[in-house]
Amino acid sequence: MPKRHWMRLAFRATRLFFTQSEKTGDLVTASYDHVAPGYDDAWTNHMRHLSLGMIDVLDPPAGATCLDLTCGTGFVADQLAQRTGGDVIGVDASEGMIARARRNFGESCRFFHSDALEFLRRQAGASFDVVTCAWGLGYTQPWRVVREIARVLKPGGRVGIIDNSLFSLAGVLWASFQTFAETPQALRHAMHVKFLPHSLVLATMMRLAGLGVQQREDGAKTYYVPNGQAALERLTATGAAAGFEFAAAEEHRQTIFTRFAELMETRTTPKGIPITHRYLQVVGRKT
Ligand SMILES: C[S@@+](CC[C@H](N)C(=O)[O-])C[C@H]1O[C@@H](n2cnc3c(N)ncnc32)[C@H](O)[C@@H]1O
Repeated sequence: MPKRHWMRLAFRATRLFFTQSEKTGDLVTASYDHVAPGYDDAWTNHMRHLSLGMIDVLDPPAGATCLDLTCGTGFVADQLAQRTGGDVIGVDASEGMIARARRNFGESCRFFHSDALEFLRRQAGASFDVVTCAWGLGYTQPWRVVREIARVLKPGGRVGIIDNSLFSLAGVLWASFQTFAETPQALRHAMHVKFLPHSLVLATMMRLAGLGVQQREDGAKTYYVPNGQAALERLTATGAAAGFEFAAAEEHRQTIFTRFAELMETRTTPKGIPITHRYLQVVGRKT
């Protein structure tokens, strides 16, 4: 086994974290622009039952004015439109994802290309009956976004958030750390995302922002891939690796990817290599 240089990796990541000029958000958006055409096949069609579960609990009322943050290709926004018949706005920072959303559901919803927090800040207070955010909160500034959601919701308005938790893809993250520990000089960007550890943390943020919590849950969904290359392809296509592909310097990228695939294969079980998404969900109301 190649030697792992954990201290060198830690120093490099810390230095990059404080000095890098590129923003993680720009890398994440570039990734989603790239994966947009295949995103629904790779992600929506496998995870839609979880998003639908959140919308069932939310139970958006007929005629509601709705805002879906980090709307991606528009699945949740369209569900809100179908269930309420109201005016639904979807917002996403990736032009590629917004273009797909318009193509998919441009007749039922209006889509805007914007950072979620910036969009929220431009809205008048008490202007939406329903706000959702599916699988994107960790890419934003969660506390600020939650506070803004509380501001833009009408009294009695409903909010539903589902997202990957900090411990989502723990096995994948561990394999990435091991890969970079073998070649610390390959790391060129320290990812700065803010996935939350547990629904209790999100529920507390919501309460502090003045939102009542009706339901919260934490769960996991595992799928299996036959080999390391398939793991890499699937993680990239779903956007789960969003931004991470740019964490490796271009000249090292192929070596890093090949080694990552090898390390993922060491996790093979009789069903294949498990990839587990851990998620958290909170549904609440503005009291
Ligand atoms: C995993 S996808 C979720 C898409 C969709 N909500 C769904 O349920 O499939 C995450 C989305 O968050 C978007 N995103 C990332 N950072 C964002 C930000 N700061 N503001 C708005 N959207 C953002 C990405 O472009 C991507 O479309």
